[in-house]
Amino acid sequence: MKARLQRLIDNTAIPLLVTGGLGAMVVGSTAVPDSPQDVQFHSAVIVVAVLLLVDLGVRIWDAAGRGVADAGTPWHDRWLYISSPDGMIDVAAAIAVPLGLLLMPHFRDGYLFAIFWVMKYLQHSTGVGLLIRVAIRARTALMSIFTLFFVVFLFAATGAYLLEREAQPEAFGSVPRAMWWAIVTLSTTGYGDVVPQTIWGRLLDGWVMVGGIAVFALWAGIIANAFSEELRRRDFLRTWDLVARASFFQDLTTAAIADIVKLIHARDVRAGTVLFRRGQYGDAMYFIVSGEVSVDIRPEPKRLGPGEFVGEMALVHDAPRSATVSVTEPSSLLVLDIANFRELAGRRPELIATIEAEAARRRSANQAA
Ligand code: CMP
Repeated sequence: MKARLQRLIDNTAIPLLVTGGLGAMVVGSTAVPDSPQDVQFHSAVIVVAVLLLVDLGVRIWDAAGRGVADAGTPWHDRWLYISSPDGMIDVAAAIAVPLGLLLMPHFRDGYLFAIFWVMKYLQHSTGVGLLIRVAIRARTALMSIFTLFFVVFLFAATGAYLLEREAQPEAFGSVPRAMWWAIVTLSTTGYGDVVPQTIWGRLLDGWVMVGGIAVFALWAGIIANAFSEELRRRDFLRTWDLVARASFFQDLTTAAIADIVKLIHARDVRAGTVLFRRGQYGDAMYFIVSGEVSVDIRPEPKRLGPGEFVGEMALVHDAPRSATVSVTEPSSLLVLDIANFRELAGRRPELIATIEAEAARRRSANQAA
């Protein structure tokens, strides 16, 4: 009950509160100072700030007893929470506006510190966690591109200073001045406020623009690649976990599991889903890791659960589906498609022999019925 309430607060109440508070801060900045609207919006920001402080207090208080078993005192546990990434975000968000109101010379500007509340969105976002892992994974490649960017930037600014300083001393009179043109050109933003006038300056401009596009293309490629690798890795780990848990694969060695993980993929299915219908072409078989499916056969439907498999008869006998199969409980399944089934038959004939024996047993049971 308490866990459900906490989830409701974390996933619904806090995001709503933060969104409302941020909205009030943004719209409040358009109001005429000291007008009734100004007071209303800023009061809303204060209300949210107070609620976040109360929430932080409760979380700190509640953290006692949730630390490592032998960590010691309740205050040690509370300190563990405060110094965790989640705790630091909670503290920063809770003190942002009070601190802003204390520190900023213009009282109105203190409300702008509500912007730190956006950190609360990051806490429960799996996408942000994924992005951070991708950035860490690709950090070496990203850093080398950044270094390349910096080298081209310095060369561009120095070259432009050399070529354009006499024609446009205002914009290119020193290397630091030329840096504005270099960064705008290299990032392919091109405001057009500073344009080289000499022929050599324009030639340099062209090269820098092309260099900028190349750097960003490399950057995008590296990030896209790291993303897909990270997703593949996550998939692999999840499939591994399910294969190791599936009792059908229980006696296998690690090398054999590694073989199977390459051929199989995990699928979570909701209750009520029809996996396939009688008479359809059979393109895959399913191992049930958790949950339950129902096979629609006569005289009465048969329920299959963890450790069992379904959909093998069509693959083994090269025939249409012999029955409709639907999922009766939320289930985790491992899917082996027909091409990989054939490959597994070559690599692990003993596994396929067990599946074939069961398919033959089910077929004769159905014929007898
Ligand atoms: P398939 O024929 O591909 O599709 C329907 C599936 O239901 C079948 O494979 C078996 O996996 C399963 N099935 C059919 N008959 C029985 C049975 N008597 N007992 C358990 N499962 C069955």
